[in-house]
Amino acid sequence: MSQPKRTRPIHTPPGGEPIGIKPNEAIIEAIGQEGVFRILANVYKRLETASIRPLFAADLDTASWRAASYFVEAMGGRHLYSDSYGRPLMRERHLPIEIDEAARVEWLDCFKAALRDDIRDYNFPAEHLESMETYSDLFSKWMVNVESEA
Ligand code: HEM
Repeated sequence: MSQPKRTRPIHTPPGGEPIGIKPNEAIIEAIGQEGVFRILANVYKRLETASIRPLFAADLDTASWRAASYFVEAMGGRHLYSDSYGRPLMRERHLPIEIDEAARVEWLDCFKAALRDDIRDYNFPAEHLESMETYSDLFSKWMVNVESEA
């Protein structure tokens, strides 16, 4: 199968792939797999009205399911994503989507807001918020593939 032709320059974040960072496993122990799905459902509900909404396909439920299954795995839970879709290769999977720093920040804002909702309304352990935010901040930087204006 021939590779599709790239029509734009691909930006590689200077920091490279974040290695060895994971959210604290106490988080998934506290909230369970269903808690991770609940948080990602909230993230995608927020993305529904975000300005980056057009980057996503019409069916956000599937995207939410895939993202939640990835996070379950990254947080030390079952290998839900790999078992269904193979190696995560997240940067590669995001390459067809044009993600610049502004898009990343908007995505991350939705994510952080959902974490705060969960602390308030459910059982996300507030003492591990920083671990989850650091992971999503660093990992989302690795998804950026469009260089921003200086
Ligand atoms: C911690 C960082 C991130 C994680 C773990 C993550 C996770 C995922 C996963 C698992 C998928 C499904 C991939 C597949 O199975 O093909 C996905 C798709 C996608 N992600 Fe991310 N993502 C992250 C950051 C971002 C950022 C910063 C953006 C910015 C716009 C973004 C936009 C998208 C879009 C547009 C899709 C396609 C969804 C669709 O099919 O409609 N992601 N992401």
